[in-house]
Amino acid sequence: MAHLDITALRMFYKKQNSLIRAVDGINIHVEKGESVGIVGESGCGKSSLALTIFRNLPANVGLFSGSIKLGGEELTQIERENFRKNYRWKKMAMIPQSSMNALDPIYPVGKQMVETYLEHEDAPEREAREKTLELLREVNLPDTVFGSYPFQLSGGQKQRAMIAMSLLLDPELLIADEPTTALDVVVQAKILKLLKKQKESRGMTSLFISHDMGVVSSVAQRIAVMYGGQIVEIADAKSVFSDPLHPYTQKLIGCIPRLGKKGSGELQFIPGSPPALNEELKNCRFWPRCPFAMEICKQKPPALVEAKSGHFVACFLHSMESLPAEGDTS
Ligand SMILES: Nc1ncnc2c1ncn2[C@@H]1O[C@H](COP(=O)(O)OP(=O)(O)OP(=O)(O)O)[C@@H](O)[C@H]1O
Ligand code: SF4
Ligand SMILES: [Mg+2]
Repeated sequence: MAHLDITALRMFYKKQNSLIRAVDGINIHVEKGESVGIVGESGCGKSSLALTIFRNLPANVGLFSGSIKLGGEELTQIERENFRKNYRWKKMAMIPQSSMNALDPIYPVGKQMVETYLEHEDAPEREAREKTLELLREVNLPDTVFGSYPFQLSGGQKQRAMIAMSLLLDPELLIADEPTTALDVVVQAKILKLLKKQKESRGMTSLFISHDMGVVSSVAQRIAVMYGGQIVEIADAKSVFSDPLHPYTQKLIGCIPRLGKKGSGELQFIPGSPPALNEELKNCRFWPRCPFAMEICKQKPPALVEAKSGHFVACFLHSMESLPAEGDTS
């Protein structure tokens, strides 16, 4: 059994009279200490998946079903208050998207961290202060940050403070949602290095979300590609890059600019737009944009199948279903 086992996970938002199928039947199994990157275009459901696992959802959830197991324990059945006190931040932590703005502007950073620690641990304040200072140092922030307000810090410093906050209660699982997006490339590289070091030294299981394949490949052992609320390909990072099977993944890789490379290094544009998520899945969601679309692609959705050892893809190009039946000469 994997450390994080997500099976048939669905989370739909309610919007006016329709349902937005942001997480639409996700299965992911992550081993202890493994890091899985989740990539996909804007709006494909990456943050919704993260918030569903972290159970930090807005009021307009229209459907939530499926299973999320951490260390064999079913998390979806845990009562709300118990989850808040003993699981969220303690067993799993999250660096939310736009987390630089997630710090409360009216409290110094250290005070926010001390209070978070004391909310979850029955410990003296001195211990909370020591732990906070220790973590701020671990993410290479000076002790003065303890008494600083968020507006007194740079973007990179705020992101480091959020990383320290996420590590405060020694979580088993870390979910990082676009942790480097708003940072310049130099700071981005430093933050990625820091996250990788922390993940490795603590043996944390992690989900690392980004719309940028290049960023994800530097920290993740496996990569899951999301499209329209679903995973369309998952494999080890090397295979996804050297042998992408799904036409959408091939396009995403074509979008990564490569320095010093001629021809194939050109940025590719993916024509068309991502699918509307307010309809039930009755076909391959990528077919209107896919150069290889076949009749079957418009008639039913492809299942995620193991096309090569450890390499899963949801595409009829790699499924027996698209082959003509024996004796069929049409
Ligand atoms: N609170 C909400 N209510 C209704 N729909 C929502 C809500 N939050 C997100 N959505 C919709 O759910 C879908 C998935 O959004 P989500 O934010 O998870 O995508 P994302 O992959 O994280 O995108 P990005 O890369 O831009 O962060 C989108 O269609 C979005 O408009
Ligand atoms: S199932 Fe069909 S439309 Fe979808 S990605 Fe594969 S070939 Fe393209
Ligand atoms: Mg997002």
